[in-house]
Amino acid sequence: AIETGVARLSVADWEVYHQQLEKRVGINQKLMSPIIAQARRQPKRVVFAEADTYKILKAAQILVDEHIAFPILLGDKKKIRQIMEDNYIEIDRCEIIDVTEQPEEKLEAYAQMLYQKRQRKGVTLYDARKMILDRNYYGAMMVHADEADALISGLTKEYARIIRPALQVIGVEPGVNRVAGMYIITNAKGESYFFADTTVNANPTADELVDIIGLTARKVRFFGIEPRMAVLSYSNFGSVAGEQPEKALLAVQKAKQKYPNLIIDGEIQANVALDTQLLQENYPFSDLAESGANTLIFPELTSGNISYKLLQEIGGNEAIGPILMGMKKPVHVLQLGSSIREIVNMVAIAVVEAQH
Ligand code: ACO
Repeated sequence: AIETGVARLSVADWEVYHQQLEKRVGINQKLMSPIIAQARRQPKRVVFAEADTYKILKAAQILVDEHIAFPILLGDKKKIRQIMEDNYIEIDRCEIIDVTEQPEEKLEAYAQMLYQKRQRKGVTLYDARKMILDRNYYGAMMVHADEADALISGLTKEYARIIRPALQVIGVEPGVNRVAGMYIITNAKGESYFFADTTVNANPTADELVDIIGLTARKVRFFGIEPRMAVLSYSNFGSVAGEQPEKALLAVQKAKQKYPNLIIDGEIQANVALDTQLLQENYPFSDLAESGANTLIFPELTSGNISYKLLQEIGGNEAIGPILMGMKKPVHVLQLGSSIREIVNMVAIAVVEAQH
């Protein structure tokens, strides 16, 4: 057994880690290689709010070795050093910040900034001084203060708790009302599909769905792909009446008006949206009839979240995400099961976002 600092790994598990490392940044991925190449052209400072885990530290080593990013590690310095030592991880030129050991003046300056931002949201200066010791607030403040270019938090099972500091400190991009989360699912044939909202908005209204559609279209184009969007439901073009199909239909109508050049249709069932033949035979009038959808918009969070997790677990598909869309600066909250390769991919995306 091998001690990693997070868990004692059996030799078999250790092998799996190494196989993941072999694949490293996923250079065979059609989608990710241009992003990684672009990140390398101008690496950015990426702060990891929860760096004291093996996976984050190994990813940080790869990011430095591959010239993708300059990691800044937040965490317990002793614990970080121990994990690195136990796993032969060496990271050149990498800053480690233990928030509790930061100089008084630095903490006070950040607390004042946080207080300025949140004083009309019920936060006192006393609260701000306590909050800033939380690494998620500290990391978000580093990005807000331009001392880092992007924030990566997690690995976490508490997505909601971790995303709040970023929403409160960094906030949303001008012109954006709701942030939302996207996952990319790539199947064994190398075909990629984009899913949203998979992580943030529990039950969006039709107008909020239109916001999610706009953010998602922009993010799909970020990967050099033209979105063909389906707003999903359990019915096709009015085949079943009900609140959910009507919401999806309304969102499609509004999105078509707001984004006249976007290929979008619905409400539509998932299998129909993906099957060109079925579309052509039954719904030849649809915008998607020519080549089917590559981007799926879910009517609410439950179906979006369950769908990508099922595909990830059962289908032998590879997932990239959750990609948080609509923040003023790049922020991504990693989920508990993220592999080292997924972390590296997410950071590369954040670096390219920061370059923009
Ligand atoms: N877009 C933009 N801003 C938002 C959003 C949003 N979607 N949601 C909240 N905010 C803002 C609020 O306006 C508020 O700003 P303000 O304080 O400056 O006025 C700030 O963020 C914090 O708001 P809260 O009221 O504390 O947050 P809220 O209770 O609305 O919760 C949250 C926001 C945490 C994102 C919530 O919507 C949530 O829990 N979503 C589900 C998250 C989740 O558990 N996902 C599933 C698992 S994720 C996974 O599987 C990887």
